[in-house]
Amino acid sequence: MFETVTPPEPDKIIRLMGMFAADPRTDKVDLGVGVYRTAEGRTPVMAAVKQAERAIWDRQDTKGYVGLLGDPGYLDAMRRLILGDGLPASRVAAAGTPGGTGAVRQVLETVRRLRPDVTVWISDPTWPNHPAIIDHLGQKRQSYRYYDPATGGLDRDGMLADLGRAKAGDLILLHGCCHNPTGADLTRADWQAVADLCVATGAIPFVDMAYQGFGDGVDEDAAGLRLLAARLPEVFVAASCSKNFGLYRERVGAVLIVTDAKPAADGVLAGMNRQNFAFPPDHGARVVQDILGDDALAATWRAELEGMRQGMQANRRALADALRAATGSDRFGFLAAHKGMFSLIGATPQQVDILRDTHGIYLVGDGRMNVAGLTPDAVPRVAQVLAQVLA
Ligand code: LMR
Repeated sequence: MFETVTPPEPDKIIRLMGMFAADPRTDKVDLGVGVYRTAEGRTPVMAAVKQAERAIWDRQDTKGYVGLLGDPGYLDAMRRLILGDGLPASRVAAAGTPGGTGAVRQVLETVRRLRPDVTVWISDPTWPNHPAIIDHLGQKRQSYRYYDPATGGLDRDGMLADLGRAKAGDLILLHGCCHNPTGADLTRADWQAVADLCVATGAIPFVDMAYQGFGDGVDEDAAGLRLLAARLPEVFVAASCSKNFGLYRERVGAVLIVTDAKPAADGVLAGMNRQNFAFPPDHGARVVQDILGDDALAATWRAELEGMRQGMQANRRALADALRAATGSDRFGFLAAHKGMFSLIGATPQQVDILRDTHGIYLVGDGRMNVAGLTPDAVPRVAQVLAQVLA
């Protein structure tokens, strides 16, 4: 069957992971894939996760199936974490998924099944897997302007003008916080404007929440989504615990749907899970459920997450300062204002190649830098090389 097949190219993030792993240089710096690292360059298992895992190991006496949607306790904990307490549980359908990517896929496939003709609007730029999954499912998509390279911030007017063309029922894919790849987020007023636009057009927001807690804080990062959920009849959410719980390989995600038809939506999600993978993974989800359901563990988790957030901000400030010193200008000042792991640094694909091939500094081809991959030791060299190559 496969003799004449050309396998698909891995996307630019996955390709870069392979190149980095194969690079024998000892001073290489991985600023590619979105993985948090400590000042020592490690991606640790969070303390609350270890504790919850130990308790599960002691207590768990069966690996029997749970349910097509996952454990109701997990789904309830995720609903509260993401949507807060402002919305009744009776208005939120929910399903566990294998990671945030699994959630994105389940939302898009659900929408394709129910409304095959809608257009999915994605920001330009966005995470490469968004258009890839939409194309894989054969859905229509359009880009909306999002980023202004001249300011390093949001192109608010362009975004609202483009989204004004969305039709009733179209899906507007938004990044809940810590926009990937730009690092440029919506303000509260921008979220308000998006809500007004959805009310006026009948378009439906679909919020990808992959970095809650990495921007301004756990609740602050969900404020825009909560504003949409309070105002609109229907909102889709794809959530990931890969980053904020450090559970990358455990594949912990969830779909949440704000709707007045929860029983029907739950039923559709259960059917969708059944067709695609049957039961969602349990171990990581149970860890999250146990952490969020225990005040002491939750406090430990929140404190560690806050430390990670502050570490990323410190990296941003250190790199912006070092670049200011190296270039004698504030050209990279936007780095300190961006949120989360990523920033577009303004490098051309050729400059990205030089950074990687000549200097062992790995960025994604569009110039996306994972600031969480920086260690304090690496900052001076990275700043000096960036100043030189991007001069
Ligand atoms: C990233 O954007 O680097 C992460 O979300 C990892 C991934 O799956 O692409």
